[in-house]
Amino acid sequence: VDDLVTAARGAGVGHATASRRDEPWPNDPYPAGSEVAGRYRSLRAVLAGEISTESVVATLNDSGLRGMGGAGFPTGKKWGLVAEAQPGTVKYAICNADESEPGTFKDRKILADQPHLVLEGLLLGMVAVGAEQGWVFIRHEYGPEEHVLREEIAALRDAGVIGPDACGSGRTLELDIFVSPGGYILGEETALLECMEGHRGEPRNKPPFPGNYGLHGRPTLINSVETFADVPVILQRGAEWWRSQGIGESVGWKFFAVSGHVSNPGVYCVPMGTTVRDLIDTAGGVLDGAPVGAVQPGGASSNFISPDRLDLRLDFGTLAEAGTMLGSGALVVLAEGTDLLAAATNVLRFFRNESCGKCVPCRVGSTKAHTLLRGVLDSGSALDDAGRGKILQLEEAMRKTSICGLGQVALGPVVSVLGLDNGGAVARPQPRPEGSKDQPPR
Ligand code: NAI
Ligand code: SF4
Repeated sequence: VDDLVTAARGAGVGHATASRRDEPWPNDPYPAGSEVAGRYRSLRAVLAGEISTESVVATLNDSGLRGMGGAGFPTGKKWGLVAEAQPGTVKYAICNADESEPGTFKDRKILADQPHLVLEGLLLGMVAVGAEQGWVFIRHEYGPEEHVLREEIAALRDAGVIGPDACGSGRTLELDIFVSPGGYILGEETALLECMEGHRGEPRNKPPFPGNYGLHGRPTLINSVETFADVPVILQRGAEWWRSQGIGESVGWKFFAVSGHVSNPGVYCVPMGTTVRDLIDTAGGVLDGAPVGAVQPGGASSNFISPDRLDLRLDFGTLAEAGTMLGSGALVVLAEGTDLLAAATNVLRFFRNESCGKCVPCRVGSTKAHTLLRGVLDSGSALDDAGRGKILQLEEAMRKTSICGLGQVALGPVVSVLGLDNGGAVARPQPRPEGSKDQPPR
């Protein structure tokens, strides 16, 4: 928790106001400081009929943009599917701003600094699929960012960009904000829908996907904050420009939250395909110049990687091949000497606490595994072969039978550290160097 607080402070994330960066992010196509009149150009062009919704979807397909919430589903494909679903029926669009993965706070920065890109992307999505109503579903702890969004929505309404005659197009476009009542699982898209319908926030079985059967059973376009924000960037600058921004097959810009034992924790926007090592260097390197002990490249759900893999490129394909994932865009760095089993058990404790309890393998399995590992850590002994066997069995059962991603990945990080050097061994933290600003997590 201390690491996350430090990281949030490093990102300029305050509790009273949403701090804005002075200089524009490298992806932003609009001039710094411009108001509504100078922005929302792609939306205006689509509403004026200068660009067809089909060509918006085609451009997204050409760009190769994938969902930045974590799963990487092709964005153009999703928009096309929702556009085609149940012709003639009411449809909806939702921006998922319920970012809650431990170590993940990049969307918070995007909401604070680029609300115009997030809302333009959402509005473009609404027009592309044929929705009149859209929401930003935001976690309740993001009060300052909610305020920024509300101001931006009011400015859009005043300027006639949204409302019953959006940009004079004769078309209705309405935006609202839905504040999450709280709970990690509500960021799972179908639990989010249940919550918005006034039900207990538990995931549904998928399929059907929300694109076909979403809010109140209507086709619903759901994308994350960063995905929506990328859309106007691509439409303004072109799919070719976007593809040329990454490295090799990894395309575009990517926001990462970097936390843990780094000198300058915070949010960084780098080309997709940047290596783990380069991103750590961008964040000032490991605290006090210590060697890396292990890294979680994609938030708490992602498997740890060992220090000999720091040249892995941060992109969907490379990390999946390496047995981990890009996930929620959160790089968590642990210095050498950190008790990896304790760190992974801490992650497991989070998932155990946040399990909605709907399915038995997740509810019971996460508790059993945590109790076993906590006992080992408290006794100061190593995880023996019988204990390892139980953990591996529980991981397999949870991965194969849980309804949603939480249960499926909850034990992945633990299993991944069992394969690393000090995972599972009696590996107490090393003393931090004199004057160190931070301590390894326990
Ligand atoms: P998923 O693979 O089930 O779905 C991804 C998206 O594609 C969803 O919007 C889904 O509706 C859509 N989709 C998938 N297959 C489809 C099909 N055949 N037809 C139409 N639409 C389809 O993944 P899920 O469970 O939505 O997300 C998992 C990811 O979320 C993880 O990789 C994890 O990294 C990330 N995550 C992010 C968090 C955060 O705070 N940002 C928190 C927890 C998890
Ligand atoms: Fe709930 Fe866990 Fe089942 Fe997901 S896997 S539905 S969090 S009990």
